[in-house]
Amino acid sequence: MFEGFGGSKRRKVNLEDEPEHAKPWVEKYRPRKLDDVAAQEHAITVLKRTLSSANLPHMLFYGPPGTGKTSTILALTKELYGPELCKSRVLELNASDERGISIVREKVKNFARLTVSKPSKDDLERYPCPPYKIIVLDEADSMTADAQSALRRTMETYSTVTRFCLICNYVTRIIDPLASRCSKFRFKSLDEVNAMSRLKEIAQKEAVPYQEDAMHRILEISSGDMRKAITLLQSAAKRLGFENLEKITAQEVEELAGLVPALVVQEMVEIVSKGNINDIIDYVSEFVKNGWSAVTLLNQLHEYYIPSDEYGTEFKNRISLLLFDADAKLSNGTNEHLQILNLLVQISQVST
Ligand SMILES: Nc1ncnc2c1ncn2[C@@H]1O[C@H](COP(=O)(O)OP(=O)(O)OP(=O)(O)O)[C@@H](O)[C@H]1O
Ligand SMILES: [Mg+2]
Repeated sequence: MFEGFGGSKRRKVNLEDEPEHAKPWVEKYRPRKLDDVAAQEHAITVLKRTLSSANLPHMLFYGPPGTGKTSTILALTKELYGPELCKSRVLELNASDERGISIVREKVKNFARLTVSKPSKDDLERYPCPPYKIIVLDEADSMTADAQSALRRTMETYSTVTRFCLICNYVTRIIDPLASRCSKFRFKSLDEVNAMSRLKEIAQKEAVPYQEDAMHRILEISSGDMRKAITLLQSAAKRLGFENLEKITAQEVEELAGLVPALVVQEMVEIVSKGNINDIIDYVSEFVKNGWSAVTLLNQLHEYYIPSDEYGTEFKNRISLLLFDADAKLSNGTNEHLQILNLLVQISQVST
């Protein structure tokens, strides 16, 4: 794991100061209250119960991207303290902040040991304002194991005045002693029904005309990642232009998402099944010129072969292994052209 972090999903800009229309839709439609968070009933019910008793444990939120983890903690702290007190009671650090061991020792520890500020009378009437602060470590799986270790004592020593909330995608990257100090909340990929109603609500509010199957395709492509779904909808809407009365179509969505057209996948599979090496070489060269990503192709080949009734179990097993192998090599940064070629030649040698 690295100490420098490149890809934070939520940069530290004060989005609340931006005008509504300038915000990307994912921010504009970020759930503001716990009740607005869709499809995470279990986590939300438990959190609301703790909210009413105002006695929070240390927490660990984990689950795939775009499922509402960051939104939930932001909503929770707002409901606990109100917008004003939040500023002095909550410290939020995400992957765009330096969070190596020295920061954990200094910044986090200094904040953790501060006594809690007094809420105003007004806040006390409207919010529970429990007598502790909250430290949110978003994207905690990108913290080094050393930095995580350094947190252990801090969490225990200051637990009378501070609660921690760790958020991550991969719970296995949180060291055991930290994980065992926290109540765990699992966030699931959004199911189609909830995701669809949320997406349509946004489309209606933004007055975007769409075809029904385009919405289905958006959800299929984003497979439970609501951030991806909303971003795709916004790109499609932008491309239409707002005066244009045409509707967003499934085909446009696929193109925007960089998917290989179904026809091309079909053609590729046919050429592979004939097993002529020269044809495969030519086809791959043409394919690469179009600039589609190799990983996308792998996913689509997976979607093509595995659910199909045309192929037997033995064939599918071998194809899965080949796809897995190519995927692992690609994520190590090998040459895409060679990998696709190698994969297709190998598939052509597996008999159906
Ligand atoms: N459960 C949900 N209900 C409603 N909207 C959601 C939900 N999950 C995600 N979204 C939408 O997706 C955007 C991103 O969500 P959020 O930042 O909470 O995801 P995350 O779980 O923290 O993802 P990551 O693991 O990538 O940080 C939100 O602004 C919101 O628009
Ligand atoms: Mg997040």
